[in-house]
Amino acid sequence: MRSLLVVVSVHQGNTLKVAERMAQELEARLVTPEEIVPEDIAEYDLLGIGSGIFFGKFHRRLLQFVERLPRQEGKKVFVFSTSGLGQKAYNEFLEASLRKRGFQVVGSFACRGYDTFSVLKLFGGINRGRPNEEDLRTCALFAAQLKKECKQ
Ligand SMILES: Cc1cc2nc3c(=O)[nH]c(=O)nc-3n(C[C@H](O)[C@H](O)[C@H](O)COP(=O)(O)O)c2cc1C
Repeated sequence: MRSLLVVVSVHQGNTLKVAERMAQELEARLVTPEEIVPEDIAEYDLLGIGSGIFFGKFHRRLLQFVERLPRQEGKKVFVFSTSGLGQKAYNEFLEASLRKRGFQVVGSFACRGYDTFSVLKLFGGINRGRPNEEDLRTCALFAAQLKKECKQ
């Protein structure tokens, strides 16, 4: 199974840590949106898309990439994010937008990430050290489960 992960990780490199662990598990190619032509996703069986959350949304560069993706007929995709709150609910908007484009959403992963936005910086930030080893183990299990399901 050929897998591709597209990631934007600009604040603390939190989402990149998650993406690297997933890529290891899935033996996936890991790129930024600027490193791939949207049409090239045709070469992959499974696509993963993730970034940090900024004011409730995925990073603009990632959303713009999704807007440029050609319409699909059930290609498998999963969504992942890191954020101050670590809520999976942040992923729902992107999941819906991918479904509208004809993707089949097969998974969603979220965890907390170190956050030093604005005044938080004055207090040393929140979630220092996250994603931590436990978060990364959970994310590796998520990827392993996907790998199993998508091969069937
Ligand atoms: C400008 C800015 C806005 C943010 N907005 C939110 C937010 O709305 N909700 C949240 O839970 N975290 C928010 N965060 C925290 C980031 O989502 C979190 O630090 C994330 O792990 C960053 O990922 P990255 O290091 O991969 O870029 C914000 C951070 C910044 C810098």
